[in-house]
Amino acid sequence: MDGMARVMVPGVPSSRVTVGVGGESDGTAMTFLQRTNPLDWCRTCAGPKTPPRHHTRLRSPEKDRLQGQKISKRHGTSRAGEVYVAIAGHGREASQDRHRETDRNRPKMQLKDIAVLITGAGSGLGAATARAMAAKGARIALIGRTRKKLEEVAAEVGGVALAADVTNSSELEAALAQAEAANGVARILVNCAGSGGSRRLISDNSVYPLEKFIDIVNVNLIGTFNCLRLFCARLVTCEPIGEERGVIINTASVAAYEGQIGQTAYAAAKGGIVSLTLPAARDLAIHRIRVNTIAPGLFATPPLTKLSDAALSKLGEAVPHPARLGNGEEFAALALHIAENPMINGETIRLDGAIRMPPRILDVGDLNFRF
Ligand SMILES: NC(=O)c1ccc[n+]([C@@H]2O[C@H](COP(=O)([O-])OP(=O)(O)OC[C@H]3O[C@@H](n4cnc5c(N)ncnc54)[C@H](OP(=O)(O)O)[C@@H]3O)[C@@H](O)[C@H]2O)c1
Repeated sequence: MDGMARVMVPGVPSSRVTVGVGGESDGTAMTFLQRTNPLDWCRTCAGPKTPPRHHTRLRSPEKDRLQGQKISKRHGTSRAGEVYVAIAGHGREASQDRHRETDRNRPKMQLKDIAVLITGAGSGLGAATARAMAAKGARIALIGRTRKKLEEVAAEVGGVALAADVTNSSELEAALAQAEAANGVARILVNCAGSGGSRRLISDNSVYPLEKFIDIVNVNLIGTFNCLRLFCARLVTCEPIGEERGVIINTASVAAYEGQIGQTAYAAAKGGIVSLTLPAARDLAIHRIRVNTIAPGLFATPPLTKLSDAALSKLGEAVPHPARLGNGEEFAALALHIAENPMINGETIRLDGAIRMPPRILDVGDLNFRF
């Protein structure tokens, strides 16, 4: 075929159908792309779709990416009323059926035999998520800085322990390569690595040290992004499972919304994670990778459980309902649900028993309240 065969489109006079399906005889888009300009494409729904107002012009890099891709039967419509065939197999599946699809039986991301990367997995929320995902049959790679902690959890979950600092790209790359060699390409990334640190902007007549601010932002925000980007680089090479390739779950904090006294750095870092969630999900939609974030309230993990009993009960009472600290299993249950529910994307979910943090809960002098 020469790429200019006619397409029948219901409701559109054939005289206005100017671009054909086919391209080369094997159905590639080469000819089609060379002969149609401008191409209209729907950014809102991630695929060609009527009505025409949903469609915007395809930019040059996207055209390049479409070169040689398979053409499907579906069309998009330009403002001029020209109808273009759509391209399947490039991440924005073009079939109209996609928009109508309600099939509950389509293959879904399930944990069984899926390779999962969890950072900060040697303790707290990361370790709890490792246990929950392993219980569902996932193959877990645990990343953190302290090997001993990781190995203890790895022994429990039958996983692989990989010591790496999330802010160090070469350490992280090496860990991801080892994880892949052991478990296959990871489909799920749970970013739990993080740490706090509390200090007023001006305290004891001295100003907040810049290094401390950089350090907290580095571990929580830059570390999260570093894991996300290196994880994706490997995942995009895999075939999708059903309609998706994989899932990223970040961990922010309610401090992203209500940072307390002393939490400028931590709140800024966690706010950054919340803010990157939607654009990262949009960036990765074309690769069918979802990105979500959990913003926990107060959870009973090592940074908090080392507080005094009095401080812990004060914190628990500050939660409207249930008036207690959350536990790792509750965090892990949400992570599992996010992994398995394909419609949750680009979202940050608070997990906090309705707490809205006041400027301060604990008195000065309480042990280093970090989250
Ligand atoms: N617990 C809460 O109430 C709460 C509330 C809101 C948000 N969060 C967030 O939840 C996440 C998990 O915290 P958690 O409560 O489970 O505390 P945790 O037990 O201290 O877990 C944090 C983990 O991150 C690891 N980590 C820290 N810096 C790292 C780095 N640069 N590279 C690699 N790993 C690093 C730590 O292990 P190593 O030091 O051995 O590396 C540790 O295992 C954190 O992001 C935290 O900010 C917790």
